Amino acid sequence: MARASRLLAALAALLAAAATGGDARPSKIAVVGAGIGGSAVTHFLQQHFGPRVQIDVFEKGTVGGRLATISVNKQHYESGAASFHSLSLHMQEFVKHLGLKHRREVVGRSAIFGGENFVLEETDWYLLNLFRLWWHYGISFLRLQMWVEEVMEKFMRIYKYQAHGYAFSGVEELLYSLGESSFINMTQRSVAESLLQVGVTQRFIDDIVSAVLRASYGQSAAMPAFAGAMALAGAQGTLWSVEGGNKLVCSGLLKLTKANVIHATVISVTLQQTEGKPLYLVKYENEVGIGSDFYDIVVIATPLHPDNSTITFEGFNSPTDVIQDSYQPTVISLVHGYLNSSYFGFPDPKLFPFANILTTDFPTFFCALDNICPVNISANFRRKQPQDAAVWRVQSPKPLLRSQLKTLFRSYYSVQTAEWQAHPVHGSRTTLPKFALHDQLFHLNALEWAASSVEVMAVAAKNVALLAYNRWYQDLDKIDQKDLMHKVKTEL
Ligand SMILES: Cc1cc2nc3c(=O)[nH]c(=O)nc-3n(C[C@H](O)[C@H](O)[C@H](O)COP(=O)(O)OP(=O)(O)OC[C@H]3O[C@@H](n4cnc5c(N)ncnc54)[C@H](O)[C@@H]3O)c2cc1C
Ligand SMILES: *[C@@H]1O[C@H](CO)[C@@H](O)[C@H](O)[C@H]1NC(C)=O
Ligand SMILES: *[C@@H]1O[C@H](CO)[C@@H](O)[C@H](O)[C@H]1NC(C)=O
Ligand SMILES: *[C@@H]1O[C@H](CO)[C@@H](O)[C@H](O)[C@H]1NC(C)=O
Ligand SMILES: *[C@@H]1O[C@H](CO)[C@@H](O)[C@H](O)[C@H]1NC(C)=O
Repeated sequence: MARASRLLAALAALLAAAATGGDARPSKIAVVGAGIGGSAVTHFLQQHFGPRVQIDVFEKGTVGGRLATISVNKQHYESGAASFHSLSLHMQEFVKHLGLKHRREVVGRSAIFGGENFVLEETDWYLLNLFRLWWHYGISFLRLQMWVEEVMEKFMRIYKYQAHGYAFSGVEELLYSLGESSFINMTQRSVAESLLQVGVTQRFIDDIVSAVLRASYGQSAAMPAFAGAMALAGAQGTLWSVEGGNKLVCSGLLKLTKANVIHATVISVTLQQTEGKPLYLVKYENEVGIGSDFYDIVVIATPLHPDNSTITFEGFNSPTDVIQDSYQPTVISLVHGYLNSSYFGFPDPKLFPFANILTTDFPTFFCALDNICPVNISANFRRKQPQDAAVWRVQSPKPLLRSQLKTLFRSYYSVQTAEWQAHPVHGSRTTLPKFALHDQLFHLNALEWAASSVEVMAVAAKNVALLAYNRWYQDLDKIDQKDLMHKVKTEL
């Protein structure tokens, strides 16, 4: 009797599997958000499931998300993410695949402003820069470099794991596989604590490290070490950006995959079918009204802010820790005008030598100030002389007041701003979130809590695409595996 009922149950399961397609590929996938995360996951999902799967990409704003440009004086300038590390392998691959080009580098010198004077000035001479660092800070900068390199070296393992098809269901599993408990610890300890431990001096942290963290995250050396190390890596390597604008990567990937981009705000995702493979109802809203459709797989590729515009999940118990409540507001002001070089101690504007100004933690209203080049650079393009009108990109936690603009600029023609929820306030949560919210419902931006950058989101996109694929075909040996370094080696 018991055997018969077991047999019946097995038969029923088989029938259910046949009804939902069994081993068939998914028929429809929804991606919410068309930033780099959404565009990249669309590309990777198509790579894995093949071109016959229909992918709908919902975007409530503009394609590109935090990759965006603003037009000033008939030229376009980056108003969101500006540049990437040379080891951003997924981004490099996208650019090559799409036939895009790297933007030509137009050299400019950097300096760190300490409120009254510059605490560090870059010169044209590499050896002199090294000598100055050595003179002021001793071995600290070498120790910093070694610390950052070690983190980067371990982080780069992810590309190998992903090339072998391995995926992770949560941020903790992913980080552990790369750097074991030391990576997990680095999400809990501060940059300052970690650096002091390896022998970097407090003065070096105050002058240099915190300036870099302010410029890249608007945060201090109290932020977690893992995100900090990734930002400091960005400050060391050669940086690059995309000719024509970084957002071209997003529109290019979506065009390439022939994804169906729907301009609408997704308001809810509801689990409809619980037997066999799940089915999700995605409800969305635009000028036309409210619409909805069914999907086999849903990828949320946007942070889940807790305001009333957030997406609600129904029909299952969604993890309670998905809402990303504290994000760092960052305002980018593109100012076309004349810099007030006196403010920086250079009464003669002709003698002002710097194009990129970082700031230490002194009480100030801005984090960084850059003389920027347009996204399309012609071969004969020259950077503006310091006494000429130029386009400056000011990064600040709040919109600049008129009086603050008058402090930084002698005069200006125009000011245009972009207000962002730029990065998570790193360190503001105690648990590392999951990518999988339900069987086939994923949240890509979970990885932003470890570190937030364009390449990290591309890594998250590849992980989510692999996770969806491995789960769909029940290839559980490729999910959350331990000791991958060893496995990957013996597989070759
Ligand atoms: C000022 C600034 C400077 C930065 N500098 C750098 C840098 O130099 N280098 C670097 O690597 N990174 C930088 N970053 C970080 C980088 O931009 C982000 O980590 C990355 O772009 C995030 O991509 P994403 O696709 O995950 O999210 P987003 O780009 O935020 O995309 C999410 C998309 O989802 C859409 N959306 C949201 N909710 C819904 C909904 N309910 N329905 C439909 N659509 C929805 C949004 O409109 C948005 O387009 C910077 C960020 C900012 C703001
Ligand atoms: C991580 O932190 C725990 C507890 O604080 C500690 O026991 C462990 O040694 C740390 N691991 C590493 C690799 O630093
Ligand atoms: C800028 O560059 C992009 C990519 O090379 C190109 O498609 C676009 O037409 C260019 N725009 C202008 C105004 O030159
Ligand atoms: C959020 O709610 C407030 C008040 O309830 C309302 O004024 C605002 O327009 C809402 N915002 C969005 C994006 O719906
Ligand atoms: C420029 O900076 C100097 C020095 O901080 C300040 O006195 C002056 O008011 C600023 N503004 C202009 C327009 O010169």
